[in-house]
This record gives sequence, C-alpha cells and structure tokens, in this order.
Amino acid sequence: MEITLFQRVTTFLIAFTFLMFGHLAISTFSVAATVKFTPEFVQNPDNIAAGKKIWLKQCARCHGQHAYPGKAPKLKPSKYKIEFVYKRVTKGFRGMPAWKKKYNKNQRMSVSAYIMSPKFKN
Ligand code: HEC
Repeated sequence: MEITLFQRVTTFLIAFTFLMFGHLAISTFSVAATVKFTPEFVQNPDNIAAGKKIWLKQCARCHGQHAYPGKAPKLKPSKYKIEFVYKRVTKGFRGMPAWKKKYNKNQRMSVSAYIMSPKFKN
C-alpha cells in the first residue's frame, strides 16, 4: 500500500507533537530528578564554603539583610527541601533569575547546601 503525502504529514505532526510535549515534560520535571544530594555532599565544609561565596556574591543583594523590602523574600530554609532550593536556583521563578548558565551543577548544588546548612545567614 502506498503511503500518501497526507499520511506522511500527519505522522510527522503527531511525532512532532509528542516530541515537544516530551521536551516540555523533561525540562519541567527533570531538574529535581537529575540531582542527588548525598549527606557527604551537603555536609562537606568545602561545598558549604563555596556555596557561601556564591551567596554573598550573587544572592545576598536581593535576599539578604540589605536587600530593600519587597525585592526578594527572606529565605526560610526550615520550610524547604534542598531539591526545591536547587530547582529555584537552576531554573529561576518569576523575579528570581535562573543560574543554570552562570553556575555549573556542582556550584548550584553547593549554594543549595549552604542555604540548608546551619551556617546559613541572611
Ligand atoms: C535579582 C534579584 C535576585 C537574585 C540576584 C536572586 N534571587 Fe532568589 N528570588 C528572587 C525573587 C524575587 C524571588 C521570589 C520569586 C517568586 O516566588 O515570585 C526569589 C526566590 C528564591 C527562592 C525561593 C524562595 C521561596 O520561599 O519560594 C530561593 C530558594 C532563592 N530565590 C534562592 C536564591 C539564590 C541561591 C540566589 C543566588 C544564586 C538568588 N536567589 C538570587 C530574587 C533574586
């Protein structure tokens, strides 16, 4: 049986649609799925120190003591899971910039570890 042009186009469109949805689903849900925080990582003083540096350099100006009111929320680590912090840092959210291009995975994990650590101050 011969495949008509119509069938080809339809098949292509269906495949394309699935691909697009797949891509959307992956980019939305994979952030937390691809990251694994071991106790060794989150307790490592070197990671916490590296995260603190990033915090002071990039984050405190919006989130810290000297941020003007209404600019960014004061972080409440006791209310978060570390994966949530990592997701916000990676992808951003509304007024919160994404840091995926600026910091590699290890750096984004480190700043998340710092925020969740007892050393965190803002
Ligand atoms: C340009 C200002 C700005 C900078 C810089 C910034 N943030 Fe944010 N951040 C925001 C704003 C605004 C929100 C609130 C977004 C919303 O929920 O509408 C936010 C939200 C967050 C949240 C979620 C808070 C919650 O309770 O929902 C986390 C976690 C966070 N930021 C971490 C960071 C980290 C870590 C850095 C540095 C790598 C950083 N932010 C840098 C503005 C900023």
